[in-house]
Amino acid sequence: MNEIGIGVIGTGYMGACHAQAMAAVGHVFEPPLRPRLVAVADVDARSAEAARARFDFARATDDWHELVADPDVAVVSITAPNILHKPMALAALAAGKHVWCEKPMALTAADAREMRDAARAAGVTTLVGYNYVRSPALALARKLVEEGELGRITQFRAIFDEDYMGRADFPYGWRVQRKLAGSGVLGDMGSHAINLAHFLVGPIGEVAAGTYTAHAERADEKGRMLPVENEDVIEALVRFETGVVGHIGASRIAFGRKNGLDLELYGTKGGLRFTQERFNELQLFKTAERSDDNGFRTILTGPPHPPFGRFTPGWGHGLGFNDLKVIEAAHLLDAIAGRSRAWPDFEEGARVEAVCDAIETSVTERRWTRVHTT
Ligand SMILES: NC(=O)c1ccc[n+]([C@@H]2O[C@H](COP(=O)([O-])OP(=O)(O)OC[C@H]3O[C@@H](n4cnc5c(N)ncnc54)[C@H](O)[C@@H]3O)[C@@H](O)[C@H]2O)c1
Repeated sequence: MNEIGIGVIGTGYMGACHAQAMAAVGHVFEPPLRPRLVAVADVDARSAEAARARFDFARATDDWHELVADPDVAVVSITAPNILHKPMALAALAAGKHVWCEKPMALTAADAREMRDAARAAGVTTLVGYNYVRSPALALARKLVEEGELGRITQFRAIFDEDYMGRADFPYGWRVQRKLAGSGVLGDMGSHAINLAHFLVGPIGEVAAGTYTAHAERADEKGRMLPVENEDVIEALVRFETGVVGHIGASRIAFGRKNGLDLELYGTKGGLRFTQERFNELQLFKTAERSDDNGFRTILTGPPHPPFGRFTPGWGHGLGFNDLKVIEAAHLLDAIAGRSRAWPDFEEGARVEAVCDAIETSVTERRWTRVHTT
């Protein structure tokens, strides 16, 4: 089997996740290309070397340009902070590399369009790390929609709540600075919900939104109070191109919520409910044929819900978050080999950023705002 060289930039939470996924994918799936962990880069040389030793990369560097230029690297994973996604992706695309980029794709919709255009010109495979679409339960949800089991879609709601910045003493860092992170919880978590809305319903045409920042200042490591430049909470009404209205909300200060991505989808023949904290389950309601048969039922995911059976033959035994990244890696390798089309690619990433941009304009101008995707 042909090998393909992998380079991972960043060795934090997501860097480890991408490296683990590429190390595992050949054992869980039968990918058309076998990944070889060639190089890992981190601005902190010791972290790069630690990741090299942990995941058995051939080389480590503290200069990501070196990794991008490495002739043995064919796929560049970008897991550095948001501000670096654009320069890293543009450099990798210019070098003809396939790109697996963490979300949010860019700081602004204009930057995302530039990256999308570069990807079109390069003609390589791109994938944005919207991993929640990879869960077997949501693949089933999409199949049920496509097969018309819910009838015509009439309503969608999604929230993505966590509490990682709930405490007032959560330290000041790159995530709260506009120039480094762009928007706050909107890009960080709301973008996942927007991608899921596109996945299950279709394009969002217009939005009306409000935001709130609960902690106006946070202390840095020296105890200095510095201004928080982006939002803790976002609530948006959305109207899909079909005319259906919906709601998307996100919070990084919702105490008690840890991976609180919840969605509801209704149609003329039934409804679906899903929560990521129990992502091995899907709640399905189909309009009752009998008067004594009513209410949602819980579908436990199992081998009939691909690619669940790749991981375990046991119904209800459950996948974990990192397994979603393994599925994502398999999808990327399939696409590179021409077996399927990668999605969410840079086209979709730019569409998500266009919705985020419209939400920010709507907040500033206090009005319904069209999403511009060109
Ligand atoms: N898909 C998801 O579910 C998910 C979850 C968490 C984070 N993310 C995204 O992943 C990205 C990284 O987040 P994280 O939580 O892993 O952050 P992190 O802080 O844990 O890791 C970031 C890494 O990038 C490195 N880095 C910084 N500057 C660099 C440079 N110039 N060159 C090379 N490396 C550099 C840091 O040293 C660190 O190792 C963000 O864009 C974030 O939004 C996605």
